[in-house]
Amino acid sequence: MTDLTLAIQVHNLCFGFPKGGAILQSCSLEVPKGEFWMLLGTNGSGKSTLLRLLAGLLTAEAGEIEILPPVGFVFQNPDHQLVMPTVGADVAFGLVQEKLSTLETRQRVEEALSAVNLMAFQRRPIYALSGGQKQRVAIAGAIARHCEVLLLDEPTALLDPDSQLDLVTQVQKLVASRGLTALWVTHRLEELDYCDGAFLLENGQVVDKGDPQRLRERLMQMEVPEL
Ligand SMILES: Nc1ncnc2c1ncn2[C@@H]1O[C@H](COP(=O)(O)OP(=O)(O)O)[C@@H](O)[C@H]1O
Ligand SMILES: [Mg+2]
Repeated sequence: MTDLTLAIQVHNLCFGFPKGGAILQSCSLEVPKGEFWMLLGTNGSGKSTLLRLLAGLLTAEAGEIEILPPVGFVFQNPDHQLVMPTVGADVAFGLVQEKLSTLETRQRVEEALSAVNLMAFQRRPIYALSGGQKQRVAIAGAIARHCEVLLLDEPTALLDPDSQLDLVTQVQKLVASRGLTALWVTHRLEELDYCDGAFLLENGQVVDKGDPQRLRERLMQMEVPEL
């Protein structure tokens, strides 16, 4: 049943935490290969849980997931993700399991850092970077591993508006230039301008999907007016 035009296929996925009740209930979605999609939904609707299931960090109770490997994950807080002291060392760390030669590792790190415009930062200590630069290092880690799919869980939540714009356009460019597929969780509706499509998650199910501007208008009407 594999459809080669899709990078992510989720069919009737069910998941709940012990004593936590159902989080995902017959959740289904499909992301076409080489496209940039976003996932929206209220707090607690199961967005992070769905991403963790897609990344294989959690196991579903029922349903099917098909996702093109390798899969890269970018967390909301890069300080929970970057583990090495410098930019170059952190990107190289993600390649350890691939048992590459020193030369191959260096080439992969350089290629990945130039893809996110951080070539000049290779020897920079992680602590000296801005939040947006740290997120780009996390993305470079995925690119160095030649990830087909990039999952990003509210990657701009801790960023200022300039870094937010920089990151979302960076991912848009990477998808266009490298044929990557990205699924980006957000609650910032202005980011919908940069994606190809979006899903709305409610009560553990995808209740709407498709044109990002239509979804944006729907969600703006749902927002509680300011008092
Ligand atoms: N480790 C956990 N154990 C129990 N419940 C959890 C755990 N992680 C998340 N939940 C619950 O699952 C629901 C969905 O959480 P989450 O996927 O983080 O939502 P979102 O990312 O959409 O805000 C929430 O009600 C949350 O409290
Ligand atoms: Mg979340």
